[in-house]
Amino acid sequence: MIGTNIKKLNLPLMSNNITRDDLDAVIEFLKQDEPILTQSTMVRKFEEEWSKWSGVRYSVFVNSGASANLITMATLKHHYGCGEVIVPTLTWVSDIASVLQNGFKPVFVDINPRNLCMDDSLVISKLSEKTKVVFITHVQGFNGLTERLLQVLKERHVVLVEDVCESHGATFGGQKLGTFGLISNFSFYYAHHMSTIEGGMVCTNDESVYETVRMLRSHGLVREAFSDTTKQNYIQGHPDLSSDFIFAYPGYNVRNTEIGAVLGRNQLKRLDENNAKRKRNFEVFLNNLDTSKYRTNFDMEGSCNYALNLIISKPDPEFRDRVENTLRENSVEFRRGSSGGGNQLRQPYLQEIIPEKEYEKYPEVEHIHFYGFYIGNYPDLEEEKILRLCHTLNEVAN
Ligand SMILES: Cc1ncc(COP(=O)(O)O)c(C=O)c1O
Repeated sequence: MIGTNIKKLNLPLMSNNITRDDLDAVIEFLKQDEPILTQSTMVRKFEEEWSKWSGVRYSVFVNSGASANLITMATLKHHYGCGEVIVPTLTWVSDIASVLQNGFKPVFVDINPRNLCMDDSLVISKLSEKTKVVFITHVQGFNGLTERLLQVLKERHVVLVEDVCESHGATFGGQKLGTFGLISNFSFYYAHHMSTIEGGMVCTNDESVYETVRMLRSHGLVREAFSDTTKQNYIQGHPDLSSDFIFAYPGYNVRNTEIGAVLGRNQLKRLDENNAKRKRNFEVFLNNLDTSKYRTNFDMEGSCNYALNLIISKPDPEFRDRVENTLRENSVEFRRGSSGGGNQLRQPYLQEIIPEKEYEKYPEVEHIHFYGFYIGNYPDLEEEKILRLCHTLNEVAN
């Protein structure tokens, strides 16, 4: 028995993403006599440092990536009114849920197999007079932007929102993802590039968007606004209200805490170094896979992946089952369907608003749904283990 255990690869989806050093930073913070634990100075400092790192003017720290999605779409509803939002079929549920929850109509687009993000020509073909927003997801570290897409959106005055929850540090044309859209969203869930336990960030260069996002994060409260002008306008316009309790919007409470911010600030110090290791890991993985069995021709330029993407080349369910069994036998944790479990159009929550069997019209995401996986890619994953993993996968008979 001991012999079999030693041979197993034992690869979890994520490992050591909150380190001893991060925990010590929290302990140090808690040594104060009466630390403020709810959103305060540490949150503001983390937001400033995140803005600097990511290259945006404003960042708003929230309690999850899903909350970032939610208040992003709520902000767009208040600023531009409802309409259609072009969304990917391969994404996380909250990217679609936030669209629905705010009264927008999702318009689905199939993916480009080279980067797993929305196919730019399909996005352009679905633009209409009703399109308010293109809500792109940069899936698992891949860049989904093209010059052509950015140009068309600019010409047609369509708002771009970037979900970068899976792609911290990835770039397009050397510029960080999350700096191209009017708003961008990040997640700091444990399984991602860095972690604040739970957490997310809404980023923007637009001051009026920033004001709304800040208020929506805290119940819609005007005192949460950034500028004195905004506050004074509301106070003077509502003399019957206590200036502490003016609710500009039907908001949410999606704040994070000082502890999350302490973790985030400590994590940010090593994010670039960790990302470099992750990039190397993914390259080693792709360079050593059998290309007759697995897809390796991803568009890697600027990519930064917290996962090892394993996509079976041919739609062969028996080979797929053998691959899954081999991974299980080796205690390699994996997720089928890649980002968010594959084709969102197959999920129960959408069935009432889409035609029956709509999912069949999206062949590229359908392939990922049944033959795409991701495996953990973390900084301390040893090259020797990646090579053993490739060898094990290449040995599966087809
Ligand atoms: C693309 C994408 N958007 C949003 C989210 C939601 O982030 P969170 O888990 O922090 O709520 C995720 C989650 O993992 C994600 O992958």
